Amino acid sequence: MGSLLFIVTVVLAVSSVVNSCTPSDRAALLAFKAALKEPYLGIFNSWTGANCNSWYGVTLDPTTNRVVDINLRGESEDPIFEKAGRSGYMTGSISPEICKLDQLTNLIIADWKGISGKIPSCVTSLSSLRILDLIGNHLTGEIPADIGKLQKITVLNVADNAITGKIPPSVVNLAALMHLDLSNNQLSGELPTDFGKLSMLSRALLNRNQLTGSIPNSISQLSRLADLDLSVNRISGSIPSSLGKMPVLSTLNLDSNSLSGTIPSSLLSNPGMGILNLSRNRFAGTIPDVFGSKSYFMVLDLSFNNLKGSIPGSLSSAKYIGHLDLSRNHLCGSIPVGVGSPFDHLEASSFGNNDCIH
Ligand SMILES: *[C@@H]1O[C@H](CO)[C@@H](O)[C@H](O)[C@H]1NC(C)=O
Repeated sequence: MGSLLFIVTVVLAVSSVVNSCTPSDRAALLAFKAALKEPYLGIFNSWTGANCNSWYGVTLDPTTNRVVDINLRGESEDPIFEKAGRSGYMTGSISPEICKLDQLTNLIIADWKGISGKIPSCVTSLSSLRILDLIGNHLTGEIPADIGKLQKITVLNVADNAITGKIPPSVVNLAALMHLDLSNNQLSGELPTDFGKLSMLSRALLNRNQLTGSIPNSISQLSRLADLDLSVNRISGSIPSSLGKMPVLSTLNLDSNSLSGTIPSSLLSNPGMGILNLSRNRFAGTIPDVFGSKSYFMVLDLSFNNLKGSIPGSLSSAKYIGHLDLSRNHLCGSIPVGVGSPFDHLEASSFGNNDCIH
């Protein structure tokens, strides 16, 4: 009994040692905390003492004692939020001291609304980083030019901030990147022409910026890309027809740009395409008559363009069309009817404001 107690005591002593972070990690965390102000929830109240593993949102590697995760989310179901009855709000900035946590794999500082300042450029030296998620703050400045150094990163999310400048050309070197979300910022300039180098990419959300130039042809090499959103930018030129041949692309939002030319028939005949929004562009020509029994669109929005000709008869052979909008074009002729017509539940407004539809 006495020796068991002794062993238990030793184990407890060892495990409390195991949970304390290195002095330099601890100092970096405290410098990070000092640059932020979180007035409503008290999430930093636990950031005291030597046991950093029990600090809110901090995780240590159990073998090395090094800080590996910072996970601070302002929209969360954690009891701390329920108790306060509100979502998170923080001001201040992200201290570059955070880059001293050189074993970080996940850096998540999301949805705090008021965090301003720049993304510290030194984050590109965090070579173990897999997730960098800074969505929903008020960050300004540019994405660090050498972001392409982050060879292990799978998720890069800086959406819903006020980031300016260009998409750094080095971004195409992020060999492990699966999820890129830069939406709702003030990014300008063109998409890198070799964007198609991002061979692991499955979601690319670049909507709501001020991007110009055309859609790079190389995008169609992205064999895992399922979701591409370039909507609400200033992108011009035509849609590369190879986009319709992509193996898993199922959501394509190109609405509210300055795209022109004709709609590639491959986009409309691709049976995997489920959400296609080309609204509010300058597409001309006719709507390719290439729908078939495998066509299954949750959304097919071609409204506010310069499309002419008739509504393709093959539309009535589609398996399903959830939301169809062909309004505000120059279409003419009759709305096709057919056995098991996919239009049964659609409204006349889907065809409104054209030249002569009956
Ligand atoms: C398509 O895009 C337009 C313009 O950006 C938008 O107003 C519309 O709601 C979108 N359609 C659907 C069905 O989401």
